[in-house]
Parts: sequence; structure tokens; C-alpha cells
Amino acid sequence: MKIINNLSEAFEFFEAIRLNKVVGFVPTMGALHQGHISLVEQSLKETDLTVVSIFVNPRQFNDKSDFENYPNNQQMDMDMLEKVGCDVIFIPDNKQIYDNYAGYLMNFEGLDSKYEGEFRPGHFQGVVDVVFRLFDIVKPHKAFFGQKDFQQLAIIKKMTAQAGLEIEILSCPIVREKSGLAMSSRNERLTQTQRVNAASIYAEMKIVANSINIGDKTKQWSNHFVKNIEKVEDLKAEYCIFCNPNTLEELDEVLQNSVVVMCVAVWCGKVRLIDNIILEF
Ligand code: PAJ
Repeated sequence: MKIINNLSEAFEFFEAIRLNKVVGFVPTMGALHQGHISLVEQSLKETDLTVVSIFVNPRQFNDKSDFENYPNNQQMDMDMLEKVGCDVIFIPDNKQIYDNYAGYLMNFEGLDSKYEGEFRPGHFQGVVDVVFRLFDIVKPHKAFFGQKDFQQLAIIKKMTAQAGLEIEILSCPIVREKSGLAMSSRNERLTQTQRVNAASIYAEMKIVANSINIGDKTKQWSNHFVKNIEKVEDLKAEYCIFCNPNTLEELDEVLQNSVVVMCVAVWCGKVRLIDNIILEF
């Protein structure tokens, strides 16, 4: 497994390798778990050379303490990547990403103003800044993102299309713990009891997913979700919305032959967790 942390080496290496190999790329912020590894496995299946980047991007944290407390287990990350068969790890530092690079100006067309964007101002601009820069350095043919961060995925797809980048953006399913809780680096901050309580998030989402029908008003089901979540100790729902998977436009009613994404954000103590389910009618 090759480790690159020098920018000129990175430009040189990635420029050359793409000429005779299909390059797959998985951007991460480290603190890897099976969710990240599933993206790496997908890339290993679909491409000739898999690159993982590890960079905790300060620009996408609207909360300073969240950034400062972001878990960091670089040795464990490397061991996991080695074990799965990752080919290259790219570990830049802040200067290498942001010196002489102001950011990438995109037209979000409203995709960043709602849901996560509303509660985390500036977050998606930070994500776009770093992903655009990483794409420019790694120059992959395919890039793999988790459905877990559904809004991020929609924004990256739009950014790639707007910038005319020839990178295929692939979405990978959410990997869950046995309890159903979506895997997240933030789960490490939950206490044992909170982890058990947090499993109610997916359990309640599944109840809604199994009950919601064509013609239903979505408000009725988001109220139902919020009410049940708040019965669980330490849980507080921030939002529960039903939206169009491409435009992220909120849907009031479930229409026949439609695809709807149920997206939720729930606080478990001081940890904010997100999850979603794609529903097909
Ligand atoms: P990070 O939170 O480290 O996630 C890296 C990738 O792993 C993202 O595409 C995310 O959606 C995916 N992922 C996380 N948990 C997952 C799970 N349980 N199942 C499937 N995929 C999962 O997302 C970021 O980093 C950053 O915003 C980044 C894109 C790297 C830009 O800084």
C-alpha cells in the first residue's frame, strides 16, 4: 500500500497512473469504520486502483469543538486499509489543500439551504471546497460516496456536473451496526446506554417506512417519528423530512410511482446523528 503525503508527488503520481488504470477514489476524514470500508470494497471491485484520502477538513465544521473532538486513529485507519487491499492512501495537510486555493464557487441551486445546510451553515461549501480540490489532485475516474450523507451526495453530483468533471459519482448503501444504528465516526462518542437508545432511530424509521402509503400526507409521518423518538431517553429529533432524491425538494404527499427519501437528524445527548431510507412507491 502506497502512502502519499507530499503534494508534488501526488500530482505526479496521479497524473501518470490514470493513463493506464481506472482510478477509484474514496475521500474520508479518517476514523474509519465498516461504512468507509464498504466504499473501498466497492471501488476495489469496480476499478484498477483504489485511492483513499484521509483529511479532517476544518472548513466543513461549523462547530469548532466538533472539529477539535473529531476522532483520530491514523494507525488503525492504515491497518484497516491495508487489510482490505487499498492501493494508495493520500494524507494531505491543511496547507497542501488550502494554500493558494480559495475554494470552489458553485451554484447550489438551493441544495445547501435546507436540512443539514440549515442546521450547519457553511458546511456544504466546506465539503465542496475540499472535494473539488481532492478531485483535482487525484483525478479519479470514479468516486465513491455513502448514501448515509444523502444531501452531500446530491451536492457532489451537482458540483461534478456543473464543473464538467469527467468523474462518475457512485452511491453506496448505508452500513449499519447490528442494532440498525447507521455506522458513523460520531458513534464513538456515545455512551453504552446512548448507543442502545440511538438504535431507536432506525427502528422508528423502519416502522414509518413499513406503514406509509400512497396518498398519505408526509407531515403525519414526520410527526409520528418525532413523537416516538422523543419518548426515548436522551433522543431529540431535529428534523424528519420526506424529499425528492434528486432535487431534495420536500414532498407533502406520497405520490404513486414516486421515489421518496426519508431523512432524519436526531440528537443523542450531545451527538448529532443522521440517517435516511429510500422509499419506492
Ligand atoms: P466521512 O464522514 O469520513 O465519510 C466518508 C465517506 O464515507 C462518505 O461518502 C460517507 O457518506 C461514507 N459513510 C460514512 N458512514 C457510512 C455508512 N454507515 N455507510 C456507508 N457509507 C458511509 O463525508 C465525509 O467524510 C466528508 O464530508 C468528505 C466527503 C470526506 C469531505 O471532507
